[in-house]
Amino acid sequence: MAQLSILRYPDPRLHTVAKPVAVVDDRIRRLADDMAEIMYAAEGVGLAATQVDVHERLIVMDTSEARDHLVVLINPQIIWRSDEMRVAEEGCLSVPQIYDKVERHASVKVQALGRDGETFEMHALDLAAVCVQHEMDHLLGKVFVEYLSALKRDRIRTKMIKKTRDEMRDA
Ligand code: NI
Repeated sequence: MAQLSILRYPDPRLHTVAKPVAVVDDRIRRLADDMAEIMYAAEGVGLAATQVDVHERLIVMDTSEARDHLVVLINPQIIWRSDEMRVAEEGCLSVPQIYDKVERHASVKVQALGRDGETFEMHALDLAAVCVQHEMDHLLGKVFVEYLSALKRDRIRTKMIKKTRDEMRDA
């Protein structure tokens, strides 16, 4: 198993702004593979490097039903956003067991480098659109709970601190 663990909200490191990946080399490919392993093990649909305390612009995601379509996005950029907005329920591996509604663009086009270092474009719809916008927020140091009201966010923060403390005690 990869030697990476997922930072949990409200860890301040989740608010770090990631730097661009300078070169897509074996180190980056290994990181992408390790992140994919963690994402699948945790049954998540996406994971940003920020969440494993690596502050470089790298995302892995798989929104396929069969969980057999891994997408690696390095230095992703949104090149088009739909005017149409959509509200969907989101969760996050850094905020376990918390789900709430967030409004985002219904579809986006993203340009990125793949695992092979080649540029590609992805037109993301539905869950993939939600996922890629959510993960790209992570690279900017933003967690989805920051879209919620201050009251909800404070409740989540308190809940997460308690949960982490309880788990440490029970460990
Ligand atoms: Ni997340």
